Amino acid sequence: MKVTVVGAGAVGASCAEYIAIKDFAAEVVLLDIKEGYAEGKAMDLMQTASLNAFDTKITGVTNDYSKTAGSDVCVITSGIPRKPGMTREELIGINAGIVKAVSSSLIEHSPNTIIIVVSNPMDTMTYLVHKSTNLPKNKIIGMGGALDSARFKYRLAEALGAPISDVDGMVIGGHSDKGMVPLIGKAARNSVVVSEFLSEERMDQIVQDTKVGGATLTGLLGTSAWYAPGAAVSGMVQAIACDTKKIFPCSALLDGEFGLSDLSIGVPCVLGANGIESIVEISLTDAEKAKLAESAEGVKKTNGLLEL
Ligand code: LAC
Repeated sequence: MKVTVVGAGAVGASCAEYIAIKDFAAEVVLLDIKEGYAEGKAMDLMQTASLNAFDTKITGVTNDYSKTAGSDVCVITSGIPRKPGMTREELIGINAGIVKAVSSSLIEHSPNTIIIVVSNPMDTMTYLVHKSTNLPKNKIIGMGGALDSARFKYRLAEALGAPISDVDGMVIGGHSDKGMVPLIGKAARNSVVVSEFLSEERMDQIVQDTKVGGATLTGLLGTSAWYAPGAAVSGMVQAIACDTKKIFPCSALLDGEFGLSDLSIGVPCVLGANGIESIVEISLTDAEKAKLAESAEGVKKTNGLLEL
């Protein structure tokens, strides 16, 4: 398994680090346009190998896509991150050009790769890769729901006073403050729905806190978060590399599923060696369906800003 991570910024480097620590990939190539930057991050990470007991080989390259040849999975984190007060949608102008160029360079050297898109506005950037390349739709996956669900579980565990391992929950819909749909009615503590433990008010608060999970961190850190995004991507790469068939909510190109078409948005997907092995059409309540439809409208509006 060879993985390329484009963008050696905080998200890309965290992603490479978590992939290495889990020790399932032979090789990770970190690529950045900034001279020497990816090489430096890769060397620093490799100097943790004996300490963290991994054999994954991490190499860094400055904009040389020939070194990414034969990658099984490529992760795109490139582009500018948001600053406090910015929405993910405001990044579209700069990031669309970058994501289009990066995906085309990656495919030139790895025609059979699976691409995971992290750059924001993520659902629209994922749609752009679908529209501007010839990869089959199962091989273009947006990372948002895995991260948003991790943030949801963090908030649930906090409210329940429960260990995270006892908590399950999923966020579908667009990866935006307004578009996320945390499925609070299906969230559970060890198979018991959380409404057995929490008041309506507390559950509303959890949903609200989850939706602004990224924005809260941007406010605190002055830039976009990286540990949880990096860990979320590494979890998806591992599911693909090890063909685990685990379910992650991913931004997938829809063709009628959930009554939606011609957009990429977060829905439950089985991940395995083929990328998205299947989309799981879980049953939704009328309220959940309405929220997903509203979220889809928001994503389509942002897609409308693309120059395709
Ligand atoms: C976040 C970025 C990755 O939510 O969109 O932190």
